[in-house]
Amino acid sequence: MKRCLCRWLRACTVAGSALLLIYLTVLQDNGLMAALSYGSQPLSDENRDSNKGFRKLLEEDALSSERVNSSNLAQRLPQCIIIGARKSGTRALIKFLELHPQILSASDEMHFFSNDTNYKLGLDWYRRKMPWSRPDQITIEKTPKYFISEISPARIHRMNSSTKLVVILRHPTTRVVSDYTQICANKQARNESVDPFESLALERDTGHVNLEYRAIQISMYHQHLARWLELFPRDQLHIVDGGNLIVNPIVEIAKVETFLGLEHQVKNESIYFNSTRGFYCMRAAKGRPERCLGANKGRKHVKISEKMIHKLNRFFRPHNERLYKLIGRRFSWR
Ligand SMILES: *[C@@H]1O[C@H](CO)[C@@H](O)[C@H](O)[C@H]1NC(C)=O
Ligand SMILES: *[C@@H]1O[C@H](CO)[C@@H](O)[C@H](O)[C@H]1NC(C)=O
Ligand SMILES: *[C@@H]1O[C@H](CO)[C@@H](O)[C@H](O)[C@H]1NC(C)=O
Ligand SMILES: *[C@@H]1O[C@H](CO)[C@@H](O)[C@H](O)[C@H]1NC(C)=O
Ligand SMILES: *[C@@H]1O[C@H](CO)[C@@H](O)[C@H](O)[C@H]1NC(C)=O
Ligand SMILES: *[C@@H]1O[C@H](CO)[C@@H](O)[C@H](O)[C@H]1NC(C)=O
Repeated sequence: MKRCLCRWLRACTVAGSALLLIYLTVLQDNGLMAALSYGSQPLSDENRDSNKGFRKLLEEDALSSERVNSSNLAQRLPQCIIIGARKSGTRALIKFLELHPQILSASDEMHFFSNDTNYKLGLDWYRRKMPWSRPDQITIEKTPKYFISEISPARIHRMNSSTKLVVILRHPTTRVVSDYTQICANKQARNESVDPFESLALERDTGHVNLEYRAIQISMYHQHLARWLELFPRDQLHIVDGGNLIVNPIVEIAKVETFLGLEHQVKNESIYFNSTRGFYCMRAAKGRPERCLGANKGRKHVKISEKMIHKLNRFFRPHNERLYKLIGRRFSWR
């Protein structure tokens, strides 16, 4: 009898443990699902397919942590991300910021939050792409694609809701032309034919501005920024005036330094305008050779008719007003 009870009890314990295990697994899965559906954006089909991948990712997140070596160096997740916009001076901005001894940047555009393949590799993968930094340094990354990516705000917010965001904006029409110029250059390099600007920017039948043209969509800044400001408070987003960055880099850099809580260390002497190159160069400093922004960056814009420019400016005017209202700040774009 005693032995029987004993056996029964043992069986119960085993069954109970198994049940508890199942229960905990279900609970955990629910938690994971809640975390997965976090944010205002519903998961796209592409994302839904890959729940397994995301679950793995989230499990890895829990394990990932900074490994600080004996010189106090670690690869840290970025505390600040330059989110865009494309063709507005993001590269110049990050190169200028790198002159600050307390700013380190990832060497490439990471395309981590905007690309599901990369995102599935997990935060630890992302962290390991970051430069080794001291605790008093700030790690930054720039991927202009984040600005227009629907899923990126929620993913960055989930990584760390305190992440500081920097966006650089320039005149929307100038940006469209620069965007077109870049794409033309890329196509020409591949010997592909290039569509005339007007055929892309205008609807064939009506002659109205073509809302389907991606370059036009990107320049409707308020539509994209609204998504970020749904999740991040306004004071966590700094807006660099891309037009002013070109004529007055130090002034714009100083504002970013203030935003990041850093002393103003990027000095006027360290950046000069090289008129041969038509762009800025950064003087050599301790442990750093002279660097100039690449030749392709100061590239001359293709010629677009005055009429076309006026049409685009007129089109963007109400969109700019909506942007000003959204961000509580005006630009002198006309
Ligand atoms: C810490 O890591 C950095 C970057 O890999 C390396 O250069 C440095 O030598 C390491 N320091 C020690 C004491 O391990
Ligand atoms: C989130 O970011 C803030 C500001 O950079 C930092 O102080 C905090 O430690 C971060 N939290 C986590 C969990 O990494
Ligand atoms: C996402 O990243 C992967 C790997 O880097 C790349 O092969 C793929 O083309 C990217 N997807 C998109 C949509 O850009
Ligand atoms: C483009 O065409 C030129 C000559 O027409 C040729 O020399 C070059 O190799 C081509 N480039 C590519 C990427 O196909
Ligand atoms: C910065 O240097 C340039 C010349 O390199 C000069 O024209 C400009 O006035 C200087 N600005 C300030 C704020 O010192
Ligand atoms: C500007 O750039 C050109 C071409 O790279 C270089 O030869 C020249 O020395 C630079 N000018 C100055 C003032 O450094």
